[in-house]
Amino acid sequence: MNSSQKPLVTVVGALSKQGRSVVQTLLQSQRYRVRALTRRVDSREAQELARLGAELVAVPLELGHKPLFVEAFQGARAAFLMTPPIAPDANYAESDEAPLGKELADAAVEAGVEHIVFTALENVDSITAGKKWVPHFTDKGRVEEYIRALPVTSSFIYMAFFYTNILEYYPPRLEGDTLIFPLYLPENHRAPFVDPLTATGPAVLEILDNREKYAGQSLPVIGEFLSPREIVDTFSRVTGRKAAYSSAFTREELVQHFPSFAGMNALVDEVVGMAEYAVEHGYYRPNRDTEWSRRVNPASLTWEQFLKATGWQGESARFGLPQD
Ligand SMILES: NC(=O)c1ccc[n+]([C@@H]2O[C@H](COP(=O)([O-])OP(=O)(O)OC[C@H]3O[C@@H](n4cnc5c(N)ncnc54)[C@H](OP(=O)(O)O)[C@@H]3O)[C@@H](O)[C@H]2O)c1
Repeated sequence: MNSSQKPLVTVVGALSKQGRSVVQTLLQSQRYRVRALTRRVDSREAQELARLGAELVAVPLELGHKPLFVEAFQGARAAFLMTPPIAPDANYAESDEAPLGKELADAAVEAGVEHIVFTALENVDSITAGKKWVPHFTDKGRVEEYIRALPVTSSFIYMAFFYTNILEYYPPRLEGDTLIFPLYLPENHRAPFVDPLTATGPAVLEILDNREKYAGQSLPVIGEFLSPREIVDTFSRVTGRKAAYSSAFTREELVQHFPSFAGMNALVDEVVGMAEYAVEHGYYRPNRDTEWSRRVNPASLTWEQFLKATGWQGESARFGLPQD
């Protein structure tokens, strides 16, 4: 197949952890062309994607740019859609996340895209009958519902907790000779985790290679189920460093470990609500196929493999947003 015959896929958030994985995997398969959307077309990360063959287009992943989105989706057979991390301004305030997801989907349909893959999550509001407030889950669930009603085929991936959260957002701190890991789940509660940098692309490639098979499906993407105790013990075994868990499950514990969260009530409520939801209801609805992603991508990294692959020793790291 010569290059112009390969189907084009537009990837929004192409420099995000998820987006980069999608762009790299699709291009490495040599079965797709990729149009990669980012604000930072001149950045080193964007230029790396261009070297792999991506067409870079400067589009911000922000509400209110529908004409730019429509243009960026023109000629694309499929689109990978995501919404960026959007911290809530105030409790129960509506953020831009759901309107942005809907605007992206509308633009894709208007441009004639045949298949949308949206990275969604469970609708926590409906699962908990409004008892847990976790807008970054619920808003994605609402966008999924909206996309399902549009005249386009669609599939949804549900990423597990990212391993990278521990490096980017909740890094351990050194006390004496021990690294203390403040984690937002109870010590022995097992939850699904994944490496977004390497697991997102293979899941999306599998869907795009088999669009009819996966039409209408919602598919978890998981590396493995882990408890905080297993996270810390594995870290110690792999790195040889002393490490200990410390609970950041309750609001008080979370703020005590991360004093910078103190003034950010909505963010704290959201993180606490998310952790309580995961413990009380499970991260995924019970009927989800939690084996799918490993079946289609047996190379998906376990936490141990992630630690070995990255050589992470406990320092704070950034993978997503530009450094300030
Ligand atoms: N952390 C987790 O455990 C977890 C689990 C499941 C799902 N999720 C969801 O995953 C999503 C984040 O994915 P990710 O971690 O892969 O993203 P990321 O690495 O943090 O990157 C976010 C991207 O969004 C764009 N962006 C962010 N803020 C923006 C703004 N104000 N205006 C315009 N563009 C902006 C940036 O694009 P450019 O700078 O390139 O333009 C950036 O590359 C969130 O919706 C989150 O809820 C997270």
